[in-house]
Amino acid sequence: MTTKPVFPRPCGEISLVPSVLSADFSRLEKCLQKIEAAADWVQVDVMDGHFVPNLSFGPDVAWAVARSTSLGVDAHLMVERPLEFIDAFAAAGARLITVHAEAEDSLLCLKRVHSMGLAAGVALRPKTPFKRAAAFLEAADLILIMTVEPGFGGQSFLSAMLNKISEARRAIKTSGRKIWLQVDGGINARTAKLAVKAGADSLVMGSAVFGARDPAGFLKGLRFEFSRGCTCKKKF
Ligand code: DX5
Repeated sequence: MTTKPVFPRPCGEISLVPSVLSADFSRLEKCLQKIEAAADWVQVDVMDGHFVPNLSFGPDVAWAVARSTSLGVDAHLMVERPLEFIDAFAAAGARLITVHAEAEDSLLCLKRVHSMGLAAGVALRPKTPFKRAAAFLEAADLILIMTVEPGFGGQSFLSAMLNKISEARRAIKTSGRKIWLQVDGGINARTAKLAVKAGADSLVMGSAVFGARDPAGFLKGLRFEFSRGCTCKKKF
């Protein structure tokens, strides 16, 4: 029985998480190899065309990503009925699975993910108040505050989310638990600093990374900005 590597815990540093949604799918393995040494883990953005108005990819792409890189895979399920997909993404190699608080059976999903020894995250759309995540604070390993309306890469950062990020940071502190505070959407060199200042410690970036002339250089520069890199990079 192989023991699954434990998902990295918040280490007091900033984790950098490229999102494959913005990668060149005709050269996915190459894109991942380019950023592997500079990233902490990689996110697969799963969309069902119902929960969000876009259709992206399923477990097979998550499997291809997991097979193409030593980075851990984080599956962000932007789907209406995530419970139906958890086992497939776990089998595909995802080691962190994030579901939306607004989706069906979201709390049950976290229990299912944990029952498989994986890390579980809960995400909030921009219009969902943070208090909706309160019920998850005792169970979640990660809280994802969407800083764009989920569905598409390349959107602009919603600075109105900064207060929600700070509210989440305060709630995590009060919980006394080690929970990543992740942000996703419009994160670039400028907005990353705003999000971190507000309390985020995990940054999902699609177009800022894969749209950069030198994706690894962009990540290294960002990590330098945050002075000490997160030592949490491991296949989890
Ligand atoms: C939205 C997606 C995007 C993506 C990041 O549903 O989740 O936020 O991961 O894309 P950028 O970094 O281009 O906003």
